[in-house]
Amino acid sequence: MTEQIKILRSNSIYTGISDRPLIDGYILIQGSKILELKEGEITAGDLAKSDKVYDFRAKTITPGLIDSHTHLVHGGSREKELALKLAGASYMEIHKVGGIKSTVAATRAASSQELRLKAQKTLENMLRHGTTTVEAKSGYGLDLETELRVLRINRELDKIQPMTVVSTYMGAHDLPKEFDHNEAYIDFMINEVMPKVKEEGLAEFVDVFCEEGIFSLEDTRKIGEAAKKMGFKLKIHADEIESMGGAGLAAELGATSSEHLMAIADEDIPRMADSGTVAVVLPATTFFLRAERFAPAKKMRAEGVTVAIASDYNPGSSPCENLQMAMDMACFGMGLEPLEILEGVTINAAKAVNLDDQYGSLEAGKYADFTIFDASSPDYIFYHFGVNNVTDVFKWGEQVLCDRNLNTEAVDRVLANKNSH
Ligand code: NIG
Ligand code: FE
Repeated sequence: MTEQIKILRSNSIYTGISDRPLIDGYILIQGSKILELKEGEITAGDLAKSDKVYDFRAKTITPGLIDSHTHLVHGGSREKELALKLAGASYMEIHKVGGIKSTVAATRAASSQELRLKAQKTLENMLRHGTTTVEAKSGYGLDLETELRVLRINRELDKIQPMTVVSTYMGAHDLPKEFDHNEAYIDFMINEVMPKVKEEGLAEFVDVFCEEGIFSLEDTRKIGEAAKKMGFKLKIHADEIESMGGAGLAAELGATSSEHLMAIADEDIPRMADSGTVAVVLPATTFFLRAERFAPAKKMRAEGVTVAIASDYNPGSSPCENLQMAMDMACFGMGLEPLEILEGVTINAAKAVNLDDQYGSLEAGKYADFTIFDASSPDYIFYHFGVNNVTDVFKWGEQVLCDRNLNTEAVDRVLANKNSH
């Protein structure tokens, strides 16, 4: 049986293709994939061969949004830190009295069932706000058992709900209380944890929190080189608070991405451009930390760096799974243009998770993932801020969110299709 052909049409389609980013036209899809993208009115021939036409003429269609940096699976929440933050405590001051360590305790204490249900609820919220693919880091277990548990949940989540989940092992998020110093913990990660993660195929990436007082540049190099040898791709949390040269190291190691970058050194920007390391910037984190600066996204773009924008969803520095919030802050905080931001949450984000051959732009052969905004132009998405502008979401050709309502039958079809692969 040949699969049905469907058409989505709009006069405002953001394509993720650099030489024709915005078109008035239509997308032909067959099954879970894009068949063709065309400009202008639907031809009589295309109309005749299609089974269904979705008319989104007053709305804006984009490739499904990709949230390329989150710490999805964790236990508990940290609203207790709010008063400290408002009293002026810095992220590192809070880190010393709780911070990541308190989430590690909550995550270890939670059952897998609790962790999975909490993450599933978050994923549903993400989907309702337009996200169709999400990167998810571990790093709130730190011990072998909890890290493997969290990474297995990442794998399971990819199968039991419609969004694509890309898994990252981030044992190097903090020094756990069982270890006195980084050296012994790094040996433990390299010799005990990473081989098991690899053997079970639980993560595509390894990430390190390279920061003053967390993991040094030398620590990061050691972990990064070992991870590369085992066949992992790299991501590095670099220059978030202090300028340490983390972005330069990411470029030198050939990391797929370098993330945060609020304090990136000027000389590391061309290094990232040369190595093709994607800069994942996280403006909602600057906002929530009440930090003074955003990552210099405009400058990085001007110097040829591929810039992606993500939520950094996590319980400490960005407890917000709505990617539109980060997009608004990229606009009004960083001064990026609407089309630059859409590029940052579609094709550039796909590059940050190494899935740009399958997702991120409206090209033939890629998955039919789309986000539809109640906005007649990209500008309107940013202009009408603070509300959820997403009304419809397509995953693998199925309309899983329909006029703001989840369509459980469409979700079931996506799951059946995913699990048959
Ligand atoms: O990306 N920077 C490191 N990790 C998270 C925050 C972790 C936490 O505070 O729980 C981040 O900001
Ligand atoms: Fe992060």
